[in-house]
Amino acid sequence: MDPVYRAFIEDYLRLHGVDPVKFCKPLPGQDEMFFNAILPNYEFDSSISAFKFVESAMRLGEAYRQIAEGVFGGFDKLGTVLDFASGWGRLTRLLEQRLRPDQIYVADIYHQAIDWQVATFGVNGVHSAKDPAVFDHAGKHDIVLVGSMFSHLPTELFHQWLERLYRLVGPRGVLAFSVHDEAILPAGEVMDASGLHYLRFSESSSLDLDIYGMSYVTEAFVGAAIARLAPGLSWRRFPKGLYENQDLYVVGAPGVDLSGLTLASSPMGGFESVATLSNGDLEFSGWAIERTPGATISQVSVHVGGAPVLSVVPGIERPDVLKHFPGSANAPVGWSFRLSRDQAQAGATVRAHLQSSSGLTGYCYARAPEPATFTYSGWSRRALR
Ligand SMILES: C[S@@+](CC[C@H](N)C(=O)[O-])C[C@H]1O[C@@H](n2cnc3c(N)ncnc32)[C@H](O)[C@@H]1O
Repeated sequence: MDPVYRAFIEDYLRLHGVDPVKFCKPLPGQDEMFFNAILPNYEFDSSISAFKFVESAMRLGEAYRQIAEGVFGGFDKLGTVLDFASGWGRLTRLLEQRLRPDQIYVADIYHQAIDWQVATFGVNGVHSAKDPAVFDHAGKHDIVLVGSMFSHLPTELFHQWLERLYRLVGPRGVLAFSVHDEAILPAGEVMDASGLHYLRFSESSSLDLDIYGMSYVTEAFVGAAIARLAPGLSWRRFPKGLYENQDLYVVGAPGVDLSGLTLASSPMGGFESVATLSNGDLEFSGWAIERTPGATISQVSVHVGGAPVLSVVPGIERPDVLKHFPGSANAPVGWSFRLSRDQAQAGATVRAHLQSSSGLTGYCYARAPEPATFTYSGWSRRALR
């Protein structure tokens, strides 16, 4: 990996209170989520993809932290937790830094992924199955998280897994799962009258399309599915609450009231360009979006080499970015700022903090470029005579 990106990753992890050495364990080559989804998405650039993997893990971690704090009062108040459909443990890398290994349970249909996590992190592993009826696990957990599995299930399995996994929620616990909302249904597709639209493709090259494709749901469908679990359960939908584009639903155990739970989505954004001006200053620009309803990105503060330098209020309209975020609660914004060469020498790490009124911050990185050389023939304003 490019050492510049490695430095970005290490800095980013430290900002989230995560030990980079422990977190950055090698990723097994069988991880389809990384090799078949993230890597092709970033034109097979392994350095950018690694940064995006870490970014998505931290976004997952921020959602998890808000559940742990909002429902239980913090990680130190948690008993055991289950990450169902954990894959190769994107979340486990983080959870093992917040909880003891014996508090963490992971389950997946990929048994090698579970065995690898047990061997690597010392957590408890459970092998899952195609059929929820034969999934054999009797534990009760404070948090049962199912990240990006219901977003891939056909109707019957959606109901069956919801019912099966809800049975694993302890008396003060919650089930949290993510879905693709109907707002991001691919162009040309029409939502099924049932409220779940299933498409027969996925990032997995091994899972049968009868059990794992791409599904899109309405809130009414999910609400009705939750109502089948038990009458009067407290549940919340957090639009864009997980990953980059999934909605997070949190359902309480009977009697657990989630009406006060708040959960924001980390602001997203990135650098897009840097120009060297005629006086040698650098002008950086980029975009950002806040997906949490009711929140705004109040300022972008700029740090160079870790030290704060300046801040700007993002005020540029970016309708061109909106098409990438269908169904977003807020409009995307643009920002730009200038740094002198004294402020940003070649090779310096420039970090933009996208600060949201939600209390969450998104971070993006750039490296100050070498001074541009521009050799040219000169010009004159004098008219030719
Ligand atoms: C998109 S990945 C998400 C992985 C992980 N939650 C994360 O965020 O990195 C979906 C996962 O669902 C798992 N999965 C699919 N069907 C399953 C089943 N019946 N039981 C358990 N896991 C399943 C897949 O093996 C895969 O690891």
